[in-house]
Amino acid sequence: MDLSEKTDPVAGAAGETPASRSILDPYALRKDFPILSRTSNGKPLVYLDNAATSQKPEVVLSALDSYYRTYNSNVHRALHILSQEATGAYEAARTILSRFIGAPDPATCIFTKNATEGLNLVANAWGRANLAAGDEILITEMEHHSNIVPWQMVAEVTGAKVRYVPITDEGRLDMEALDKLLTPRTRVVGVIHVSNVLGTINPVAEIARKAHEAGAIVVLDGAQSVPHLPVNVVELDVDFLAFSSHKMYGPTGVGVLWGRRELLEEMQPFLGGGEMIEFVAKEGTTYNKIPYKFEAGTPSIAEVIGMGAAAQYLQGVGLSSIHEYESSLIRYALERLESLEGIQIFGPRDERAALVSFSLDGIHPHDVSTMLDQDFVAVRAGHHCTQILHAVLKRPATTRASFAFYNTREEVDVLVESLRKAVEFFSGR
Ligand SMILES: Cc1ncc(COP(=O)(O)O)c(C=O)c1O
Repeated sequence: MDLSEKTDPVAGAAGETPASRSILDPYALRKDFPILSRTSNGKPLVYLDNAATSQKPEVVLSALDSYYRTYNSNVHRALHILSQEATGAYEAARTILSRFIGAPDPATCIFTKNATEGLNLVANAWGRANLAAGDEILITEMEHHSNIVPWQMVAEVTGAKVRYVPITDEGRLDMEALDKLLTPRTRVVGVIHVSNVLGTINPVAEIARKAHEAGAIVVLDGAQSVPHLPVNVVELDVDFLAFSSHKMYGPTGVGVLWGRRELLEEMQPFLGGGEMIEFVAKEGTTYNKIPYKFEAGTPSIAEVIGMGAAAQYLQGVGLSSIHEYESSLIRYALERLESLEGIQIFGPRDERAALVSFSLDGIHPHDVSTMLDQDFVAVRAGHHCTQILHAVLKRPATTRASFAFYNTREEVDVLVESLRKAVEFFSGR
């Protein structure tokens, strides 16, 4: 079957309306992604590992190519034409990215290596200066390791304590528990916007309101939300937001940390070196203004420009349309998956993001993933960097299928049939 060809894109989903059918055409959009026409042993690629990293459209590939072919140069350092062009494109990407997340001021968008580095930057540069023994860092049981480990590390050096908001049986944050855990001792609340395992979309604006009432700042991990739904830092009223380019159809090696200007300005740099200085003398150094204070050394220039191209591409497709389309795709996927014998699906059934983690009775997730790979279906098996959450789920590992707007119902069908074969194989039928 050629998965790029439209067969019946709307068949079968519950709650589908004619209006929602025209929101986005995945079959047309797939053509923007060269890799999606790959085959292996005659089977078309079914790429369902988008939460790990997503595929790149032609506009991103050509942004990288054209930088290296026509204006490769370092930024901010020379007066020649190439450097001016590179600097212009690099700073234009900052403006695009700031608009993309509703930030009024581009200088508050810092380019990092990825979401992980952004969260480490906050934990170190803000945490070390603002946390002390007796303070509490409130995170959740569904955090990715990148929003746990940096806080544990900073807690160790400052004497602050890390507390965890539990999740309900349905896989949502226990908001009553959050109310009890938020106290005047809480200095920071770290929360994942969309769980990379449960698909839960957390009520960030409500959490931010409660956190601010308690006097805490809010650090949002947007790695799984920014590529899939409209995210606006002003509307959410958070204090920091970190996300990665490679999960939003951009290149690897770059991400954004957005922060409130007043917090960024009072923070000390995280890394020292070129670019982040104002003046260096034997007696000491004064620092550059934001964002450069936090961008030591030569940045990932091509990748930043590519990330800007990815954000523009996503704006062209429309984040609301993407969210609506992916919501209908995950409803369909859940319906189909539930027909499998011995499956346990984790996370809420509705109002969730387009990824699903599950286990199949008696089959190790690695075996599931290996079986699917024989049909060229790419999923992920493991703890997905959420060992605390997996301990709560009482599973060392799960299998995860994570979708993008270029995935189709036919691909869900291929996934389900491939899983059915795996169930039959392992049950000896
Ligand atoms: C929710 C979440 N946060 C953070 C990260 C870390 O992203 P990166 O590895 O790009 O820094 C991931 C990656 O899987 C994630 O899913």
